[in-house]
Amino acid sequence: MEAVKIKEDLYWVGAIDWNVRNFHGYSTLRGTTYNSYLLVDEKITLFDTVKYGFEEEMLSRIRNIVNPEKINYLVVNHIEPDHAGGFLKVVEIIKPEKIFITKKGKEGLEKYFHRSDFPFEEAVTEKEIRIGKRTIKFIETPMIHWPDSMISYIPEEKILISQDAFGAHYATSNRFDDEVDYCALIQESAKYYANIVLPYSPRVQNLLKTIKDLGFEIKIICPDHGVVWRKNTGEIIKLYEKWSNYIADPKAVIIYDTMWKSTEKMAYAIMEGIVKENVEARIFKLSVSDITDVMTEVMLAKGLVLGSPTLNNGLMPTVASFVHYMKGLRPRNKIGAAFGSYGWSGESVKLLNEILNEIKAEVVHEGIKIKFAPDRETLKQCEELGKIVAKKIKNSL
Ligand code: FEO
Repeated sequence: MEAVKIKEDLYWVGAIDWNVRNFHGYSTLRGTTYNSYLLVDEKITLFDTVKYGFEEEMLSRIRNIVNPEKINYLVVNHIEPDHAGGFLKVVEIIKPEKIFITKKGKEGLEKYFHRSDFPFEEAVTEKEIRIGKRTIKFIETPMIHWPDSMISYIPEEKILISQDAFGAHYATSNRFDDEVDYCALIQESAKYYANIVLPYSPRVQNLLKTIKDLGFEIKIICPDHGVVWRKNTGEIIKLYEKWSNYIADPKAVIIYDTMWKSTEKMAYAIMEGIVKENVEARIFKLSVSDITDVMTEVMLAKGLVLGSPTLNNGLMPTVASFVHYMKGLRPRNKIGAAFGSYGWSGESVKLLNEILNEIKAEVVHEGIKIKFAPDRETLKQCEELGKIVAKKIKNSL
């Protein structure tokens, strides 16, 4: 398999996983890539390895350029198994003189592989190494995505090798942002941020500030998933600024499930109210929706309206599962409201309001709960709730 030249002496040598559809629960409908980069200088340096099972694909691309045994340095930016699962096999073949990694990364790999005889050299923020004509500067980025994470910057080339940050689960035969369906790329980048990076948004803001403070000019971003950003580099950085500051679009999502269609009728009446105020709205019924796609819409929308019937004094399982997932991803800065039907006890609206409070949403209505089935009057109340949400969204602009 071929290596792909990014710039003089820098090559993509990763692997394409066309068929993965479930990435620890994240739906990867377009597959993904595990990216590695080879920089040929006096010290030949490999940045990251690949998921276990994809080592041969990576090594065959490296062999296009150099004999893998000639590689001097390995930089491990992140130890999650989608990047370091192939570490052991690759290290046994290339036998690097040095492996640059953070302290947490070293501890993690020693535990993953139950060995401590690797030639690790600790990388810390602002440490730099000279590899010939070029320099590599490291910045630790704990929790973007794991405690071990770091990024590598090559100042002479203005290239950032960013591991998970700025990535997307997007398998394509093209390697650059200007060669693929750009709408699909932005959609996958947003989905990746919403489902992987969102909880660590304050750290993303710190990282963007650190990059500015250090004066790193970035022309090309090489992430560990998806394509290399060489044309729209500024745009993806701007999107990370927007998403990490919890800035959403002036629209609403209504997320619900239903047993006998009463809660569903309420959802559609709420949407009517939102749309009548000229605010865009989207509805997601959880029994037929993918939660990772729904989470993307949550991140992108200012308004968040949650609905569930009461079942066994609680939420429907699909709603309980989704709000648990959503809460862990820590969306912020939402305008929220809740609704649901019930037969006798009616706890669902209270429980959904608690969730909205936990994610620090501005709850703009006490919520609507309707016994058994809505009638014309109660559907009107739902429509009014939608209008209140929509007006709040418009006022937040
Ligand atoms: Fe792509 Fe956090 O690993």
